[in-house]
Amino acid sequence: MRIEEGNVEVAVPGEATDGKEGEVFYNPEMELNRDLTVATLRAYREREDAEPTTYLDATAASGIRGVRAAANGWTATTCDVDPEAVDLAAENFERNGLDGETVHEDANVFMHQQRFDVVDVDPFGTPMPFADAAARSAQGLLCVTATDTAPLCGAHFESGVRKYGAVPRNTEYHAEMGLRVLLSALVRTAATFDVAARPVFSHVTDHYARTYLDVEQGARAANALLEELGHVDHCQHCLYRDHEHGLLADPDELCPHCGHHLQTAGPLWLGDAHDPAFVAAVREQVTGEFETADRAQDLLSTVEGELSTPTHYDQHRLYKRWSKSAVGMDQFLATLRDAGHEASRSHYGGTTFKTTADVADMETALN
Ligand SMILES: C[S@@+](CC[C@H](N)C(=O)[O-])C[C@H]1O[C@@H](n2cnc3c(N)ncnc32)[C@H](O)[C@@H]1O
Ligand SMILES: [Zn+2]
Repeated sequence: MRIEEGNVEVAVPGEATDGKEGEVFYNPEMELNRDLTVATLRAYREREDAEPTTYLDATAASGIRGVRAAANGWTATTCDVDPEAVDLAAENFERNGLDGETVHEDANVFMHQQRFDVVDVDPFGTPMPFADAAARSAQGLLCVTATDTAPLCGAHFESGVRKYGAVPRNTEYHAEMGLRVLLSALVRTAATFDVAARPVFSHVTDHYARTYLDVEQGARAANALLEELGHVDHCQHCLYRDHEHGLLADPDELCPHCGHHLQTAGPLWLGDAHDPAFVAAVREQVTGEFETADRAQDLLSTVEGELSTPTHYDQHRLYKRWSKSAVGMDQFLATLRDAGHEASRSHYGGTTFKTTADVADMETALN
């Protein structure tokens, strides 16, 4: 089957595949992820003084990302362990009259051998088996997808601990918990090579988390990022939460709001998951040929306006705890702001928001 995406035409398996039945993987639902990748590549190239040129699609399948990068002027390389995927990627470059190197190799071997301005890791499940090599290979920007949301958010606790070297907790802000567990693991992995990897744009959409990290060499820069790691203490009973910086957790045992036990998650990335100026620049690069343009614009606007608090709330959950009916989001956020708190929507869901108010402040302001 041939499909068109972002001005390229690529051959892909006839229907969505999971890559497990001897077919090359292809998932049409990842189009938003790929459109945002192209917009991010454009914004990144514009931002840099020394123009970055090389892009590696390390786990490429049909090569669709690499082909789209090449169509946007990048010197693209695709890599896959599956020989059929490598052949298909080569065919797809050729079909579009584009040059692109297609490598048949284990991505870990290849990334330890060669450096690229941008490295994109979009594997099955967790990206962590590729994180060491990717952190060494990427010289400017590291792009990472994780589709194992259950381990990341604490729903599969042991698996999350094993893969990410952090304690996840299953909270009502599970998507952000997952993202911050992932970012923590990526920042710590890069730091082992004296590399600072700082997220500039991240989103959690459908069944995956996606993040783009600026990469800078140097132990001092890497040390500075370690200071943005820490823990979140959470009360499952009243939804109170607090956070503390530092690699050692030192939580209160009981919730200061309702007296129930607190759960601690971490080390998590507590710093910004995005740079608003960069996200705005990405939004400007979303152009008409993207099938997902409207959705991408909406997502980017929300992410750009998101407060940088490490957790978000769900308005409906709060009102349920208070046994009251929820109100419209605009009115809800305005009430919080009128009471002197910062408040924003968040991209994690239509009724989710971020605020500098704690649960007690909110109860006072809203009830
Ligand atoms: C989720 S698919 C990639 C999808 C693709 N990036 C896209 O946007 O359509 C993951 C790919 O990683 C490949 N893969 C798995 N292990 C690998 C390894 N160690 N080195 C390189 N590729 C690998 C698989 O063969 C598969 O084609
Ligand atoms: Zn509580």
